[in-house]
Amino acid sequence: MAIQKVGVVGCGLMGSGIAQVSAQAGFPTVVREVSPEIVDKGLRSIDKNLARLVEKAIINEAQKNEIRGRLKGTTALEDLKGCDVIVEAIIEQLPAKRELFGALDALCPASTIFASNTSSLTITEIATATKRPQRFVGLHFFNPVPVMKLVEVVRTIATDPAVYEEMVAFGTKLGKTPVRAHDSTGFIVNRLLVPYLLDAIRALEEGVGSIEDIDNSMKLGCGHPMGPLTLLDFVGLDTTYYIANIMFDEFRERRFASPPLLKRMVLAGWNGRKAGRGFYDYSDPQKPKAMKF
Ligand code: 3HC
Repeated sequence: MAIQKVGVVGCGLMGSGIAQVSAQAGFPTVVREVSPEIVDKGLRSIDKNLARLVEKAIINEAQKNEIRGRLKGTTALEDLKGCDVIVEAIIEQLPAKRELFGALDALCPASTIFASNTSSLTITEIATATKRPQRFVGLHFFNPVPVMKLVEVVRTIATDPAVYEEMVAFGTKLGKTPVRAHDSTGFIVNRLLVPYLLDAIRALEEGVGSIEDIDNSMKLGCGHPMGPLTLLDFVGLDTTYYIANIMFDEFRERRFASPPLLKRMVLAGWNGRKAGRGFYDYSDPQKPKAMKF
């Protein structure tokens, strides 16, 4: 079965990015959110990204309009009925995801493939909310979705191999490089990234270096686009804390244990760039200033 129409549930940072790359890849795409205001906000951010691509002459005005024409925003779950694959990118909470997929399962034909963009929950546990765990995969994208080239395609012990191969091919059609991962908490990227980010906080706690020096070390010494503390602010400290706790629960290994400073920053609401404050102060977003603790 070839994928012809794509559904995306969630039009936040990740969902709008997934919807954008899907429409750019030529798929008619329906993106669903809970309120018209959130649908509009997501579509506005896509418009901004597409306008930037026109400015840079990567696409022309006509292509922009074609891409935009393939995108439909909705608040009705029923509008996803005719989609061949539905990618979920809603809040990172198991009960919400299970409830959503239970409802989609009742709504969609048996042939529809379901995918979750979860970064840390167990795909198997989400899939068992449906009667089609064999047609269920993880498709884990990276922020910012239109820019980052990777998608992790995650199979569970129940995923049908033919469905899995179709989703690997779908990842390529979206313009991403798919990597194959088993349904192990954190998959490949977060298995490696989370301990690295937590170690950067531990290095700061232990006085090994300043915020700027830790970041510059990895930027200039290892060629990373962002230092780890800047990346933590970018991903969100609350998000990282949440993922780390799930990984620690699963593996019981110190490398996944949240450092006390991370917990305290999350408790204080210093969640990074989106909160205006994390390891850096973003009062002037163009010139973030390292915090003093
Ligand atoms: N949407 C669309 N395009 C964007 C964008 C966004 N949100 N942010 C940046 N861009 C584009 C810019 O338009 C620019 O395009 P151009 O080069 O063609 O003009 C390009 O990306 C570079 O942007 P900037 O010049 O503004 O800034 P940088 O060169 O610093 O790049 C970055 C920004 C791409 C975010 C880069 O710093 C980077 O790659 N950082 C690391 C990001 C990363 O590691 N992401 C993964 C996080 S982990 C995750 O998502 C998994 C989860 O489970 C935790």
